[in-house]
Amino acid sequence: MCGIVGVALKNGFEVGPVIYECLKRLEYRGYDSVGEAAVIDGKIVVKKDKGKIDEVEHELAISRLPAPVGIGHTRWATHGAPSAENAHPHTDCLNSIAVVHNGIIENFMQLRQELEREGHSFKSRTDTEVVAHLVESYVRSGDNFVEAVRKAAKRLNGAYALAMISISDPDEIVCVRKESPLVLGTSKNGNFCASDIPAFLPRTNQVILLEDDEMAVITSEKITLFRLSDGATVLREPFTVDWSIERAVKTGYPHFMLKEIHEQPISVRNALRTHPIYLDLMALTMDRAKRIFLIACGTSNHACIAASYTFANLAKVSVTPVVASEFIDSYGALIDQDTVVLAVSQSGETADTLSAVRGARERGATILGISNSVGSTLTRLSDVYIGQNSGPEIGVAATKTFTAQVAVLTKIAIALAHKRQVLRPAELETLESAFVKLPDWLSQVLLQEDQVMRIAEKYAEKESFCYLGRGINVATALEGRLKLLELAYIPAIAYAAGESKHGFISVVEAGYPVIFVAPKDETHSKIIGNVMEMKARGARIISIIDEDDAEVGSLSDDIVRMPAGIPSSLSPIVYVVPLQFLAYQISVKRGHDPDFPRNLAKSVTVQ
Ligand code: F6R
Repeated sequence: MCGIVGVALKNGFEVGPVIYECLKRLEYRGYDSVGEAAVIDGKIVVKKDKGKIDEVEHELAISRLPAPVGIGHTRWATHGAPSAENAHPHTDCLNSIAVVHNGIIENFMQLRQELEREGHSFKSRTDTEVVAHLVESYVRSGDNFVEAVRKAAKRLNGAYALAMISISDPDEIVCVRKESPLVLGTSKNGNFCASDIPAFLPRTNQVILLEDDEMAVITSEKITLFRLSDGATVLREPFTVDWSIERAVKTGYPHFMLKEIHEQPISVRNALRTHPIYLDLMALTMDRAKRIFLIACGTSNHACIAASYTFANLAKVSVTPVVASEFIDSYGALIDQDTVVLAVSQSGETADTLSAVRGARERGATILGISNSVGSTLTRLSDVYIGQNSGPEIGVAATKTFTAQVAVLTKIAIALAHKRQVLRPAELETLESAFVKLPDWLSQVLLQEDQVMRIAEKYAEKESFCYLGRGINVATALEGRLKLLELAYIPAIAYAAGESKHGFISVVEAGYPVIFVAPKDETHSKIIGNVMEMKARGARIISIIDEDDAEVGSLSDDIVRMPAGIPSSLSPIVYVVPLQFLAYQISVKRGHDPDFPRNLAKSVTVQ
């Protein structure tokens, strides 16, 4: 997730201060580097560097850009670590085109190789730079700027919102969108494009939505829309937005956490865009290892626990998930050159995780990393890393980053299974088609918010809860419990359901709420027995079940129904969502702020 903006002002007003102000309001989308570009005296002038907006402003005075038309970008690194070279805008060989981008171009490696063969030379490691060179090559073969952008966009796979300027048409911004957000704003003083409405909301509340596979040409006087496929003109009237800036930043949601829960269909889709090269590299490294550990803290540890089931069941490989703070003390004696440590950290800065990684490195282990922060210490300590592409998560409780981590870890497990030739083609096909359906399943589950709200209303005053699951969904139960603990401050227990009769059951009395994560997988018949054990002792049964599940449904007091057909290895990604909602809603009902729970920090940088 990055923020892009384009501004075209009337009456020769200077664009620099306006772009700067828009970027400040997009900073929540990413803040590792920033840049602006405009055509000044017939030349593209770019000001950009790594750092937060105010730091780069202090260093380069990005708000001084004496031109009426320009583009800007605030970055959340995906391809290439934060650096001046990788900061946007990116330019072509002739410095005649500048481009800013939000999204992921999946086929950038092929395009880059093709363009390099044609003689283009690249300055950055980003996927975005291919766009500038691709447009340049169409312009060189005779197309005008708009047509060159249209042809270039048709060659891109993946997700993109792009805004571009060219020395050939200095009064225009050309933008194009597919699967990444881009909105247009129109006013009597000029016109805008941006990743999100808050960017320009103080200047205009007249908004036009650009749809997928559409492009727009923006000048200070007008905005013209086109279809990407054939260049035909599209007519669309602006509508009025009456949101406050604060509400607009949360896209209408009362809290960032709720916004981030709702972002999961997109964030999981973005996580699944990880380039196969990195998956294969990790799989190769793991395949050669004698021992594999998955190291993380908190929610990231729950993603690792879920993944340990998938590595066992799909790749037929035993991996050991360990909480980072225990790793060196417990397993230090086993770590050597034949050890692979896969560390997972949203922030990439968690002190316990980094200490475990450093300890493992000193003992000769190979370090693999998954992080939401490319350029973080974890990615710098890793021999190979994958960026999970979730975009900034502002709510302290991890939600969209958990589901993205499970998605990436499942992809790695499948790559390893493929390498070891232990997955039948039919199984692989089922999983691949499930990945395609995953964003839709998540969208369907989001529709259950009201049902979870009814459950939250019924149980919000309970003094304790228990979460039970079997198999991979022990991890989901643990994660549901953690959300409730940290947001609602309610003591809660989570267990492997089969283990509950070995002690926990003595706590259960009439009315005690027990939440079952019970998909219709190979654990189903056993979990029915566990539900009955709890019911016999008077527990109130709340179950997250498959929509076709009549058995657990009939034993439960309250149910939330999930789409049918989700493979077991992907079930935590979908089944955790009602548990995120439940913790959020109970927290709000009890008068807490779910975005900033007491005593917790987003990134725990002390051991
Ligand atoms: C839970 C939560 C924490 C983090 C943990 C690890 O909602 O946010 O438990 O998961 O502090 O953080 P990262 O993943 O940044 O290493």
